[in-house]
Formats: sequence, C-alpha cells, structure tokens
Amino acid sequence: MKDFQYYLNLVNQAIASIPYPKAPEQLYEPIAYHMALGGKRVRPVLLLMACEAMGGQVDQALEAAVGLEMFHNFTLLHDDVMDNADVRRGKTTVHRRWNDNTAILSGDTMLTIATQYIARTMNWPVMDLFNKTAIEIYEGQQWDMDYEYRNDVTVDEYINMIRLKTSVLLGCALKMGALLADADAKDAEMLYEAGVNMGLAFQLRDDVLDVWGDPKTFGKEIGGDIMNNKKTFLLINAMRLAQGDDADELRHWLNDPYATRDDKVAGMTRLYERLGVRQLAEEAIARYNDLAVNAFNQVGMADEDKQAFVSMANKLAGRNY
Ligand code: IPE
Ligand code: IPE
Ligand code: MG
Ligand code: MG
Ligand code: MG
Repeated sequence: MKDFQYYLNLVNQAIASIPYPKAPEQLYEPIAYHMALGGKRVRPVLLLMACEAMGGQVDQALEAAVGLEMFHNFTLLHDDVMDNADVRRGKTTVHRRWNDNTAILSGDTMLTIATQYIARTMNWPVMDLFNKTAIEIYEGQQWDMDYEYRNDVTVDEYINMIRLKTSVLLGCALKMGALLADADAKDAEMLYEAGVNMGLAFQLRDDVLDVWGDPKTFGKEIGGDIMNNKKTFLLINAMRLAQGDDADELRHWLNDPYATRDDKVAGMTRLYERLGVRQLAEEAIARYNDLAVNAFNQVGMADEDKQAFVSMANKLAGRNY
C-alpha cells in the first residue's frame, strides 16, 4: 500500500476535475465552493486504502471514493443548516454565504451526483451498502436533533446516535473498498467493524474539539454544540455528575434563552472542567480506538497494511483538526 498522501492526492485531483455545469450558477457554484474547501478527505482515502489492501486497484475505486466524499459534503451542507453553523473548514458555510434554500437544493444535487458516481461501479452490493448507510445517517441526524430537547439521554443512546450519524460512513468507506476489490466477506465485515469503532472515536474527538479545539486548526466555531444543547458525551456526563451549585448552574445554561454565546460557552466549559468530563471522553476515545485497532489486526492483509490503518486510526483519534 502507498502512503496516506498518495491516496489524498489522487482524491484531490479527481475532485478538482469534476465537471460542473455552468448554469444554474446558484445551484452549482455552492457545490464547487464546498468541494474546493478541502477537509481531511478521510472517507475516500479509507476507501482507496481498503481497496488496495484487499488486492484491488485504485482505478476501480476512485469514482466510488469521489462519490462518497460528495455524499459526506452533502450531509455537511444540511448539517450546518440544522446546527445553525456559520463556519466550516475555516470558511463561511453555504447557508450563510448564500441562504438555506441554496444549502437544501445544492445539497440535494450533491446527493444525486454522489449516487451517480457510486452507481457507475455497477456493483449492487456497493449500491445497497451506500443506500443503507445513507438512511442510517439521516436516522442519526434525527436523533441528534431530537436529543437537543431531551434531558434524559443516556450514554447508550448517545453512542447509538453517533454510530448512525458518523461511524457507519467510515465503516461503509472501508467495506466499499473491500467489496470493490472482491475481498472475502469476513474481511469486508471486519473492516466495517474497524471503521465503525474508528468512527465512534472520531465523533467523540469532534465533540471534545467543539469545546477545547482551536478554531484556526479545527475550522469550525467553538461552542456550537453547547449553544444547541447538543447531548454530547460531555454534556450527558456533566448532567449525570453535577451536584448542588453545579447542577443549578447547568440547568441555568440549558434553559436561559437570553444567555450570550460568550457567557454560555465560557460557563459550560468551566463546568465541564470542574466535573472532569473531558477525561471521561479521552478514555472512551482510547477504548474505541483500541477496538478499531484490534479489528484492523484481524483483517487478512499484509502487516504493513495493518500498520497503515492503525497509524491512521491513531492519528485521527488524537487529531486537533
Ligand atoms: C465532519 O466530518 C462531521 C463529522 C462527522 C464530525 P469531518 O471531520 O471528516 O470533516 P471534513 O470533511 O474533514 O471537513
Ligand atoms: C456531524 O455531526 C454528522 C453529520 C454531518 C452527518 P456534527 O454536527 O458534530 O458535525 P460538525 O461538528 O458540524 O462537523
Ligand atoms: Mg450536527
Ligand atoms: Mg454540525
Ligand atoms: Mg461536531
């Protein structure tokens, strides 16, 4: 297997050469804008790595990889509307730079372009995996929004929610690469399991960075989850652990509609620090990352390929971007 940068370059070249129609400009310009913002390109790179590790060729998989990244970007356009987010990848979000209708319709178009790319594989198990994963993501996004209004969300419910909204897409990327390489079903499933556990660590890290990240490297505004009362791992544990004055303060921040962004984010961050919930999140990240590493080690592939996946999992679990 080649190194991460090799696959990233292939993906970036393929994305840069997507031919968008000129008109309607209001439909296609936001798509080109968003796809050019970059991002980590984690999903297409994983797909290509899995394909090669399982004995396939990247040119069999490049269109599917581009399709999966297009799909991921579609979910981000809609997610930023739902989460009322102003900044993504260090730039103004599509719904702020244009408007909500643009984010909806350009997003719809991206979903269909993604489906076209993946359909070109003419591989039914690949299509089936893609469609099943897409619906799971919408389910996860719905739980994520429902939970903003509930104060009794459990850790198990949270884990299931992030498994759906985030983790299955990483599992899907790896399994899709394996399917395109005609891998053994057992290896394809083990890669899926590795991806799901990697994805759980990935979303937990995302939740931590929402509070303690540096907006310059993270590319998103800090405190978005706090402002939306998102039931992150941090908030669920804080609600479980807070007593006395801390519990009163937590109730205040969750219920005061007039709290300013600066006050609420600073107040909640101090509360999280007093309650030690970041440490709990770091431990959970390490646990899911270990599960991912174990799964990668059980896939029938060369040791150096296992090592490449393990180092990518470790890098993403500890990321600050
Ligand atoms: C953002 O995904 C949404 C989550 C699942 C946390 P990424 O963190 O992969 O975003 P980009 O594509 O690198 O910008
Ligand atoms: C992202 O969850 C999940 C999907 C986009 C499907 P978040 O809402 O935490 O992602 P960010 O933080 O906006 O990237
Ligand atoms: Mg969201
Ligand atoms: Mg969001
Ligand atoms: Mg987030």
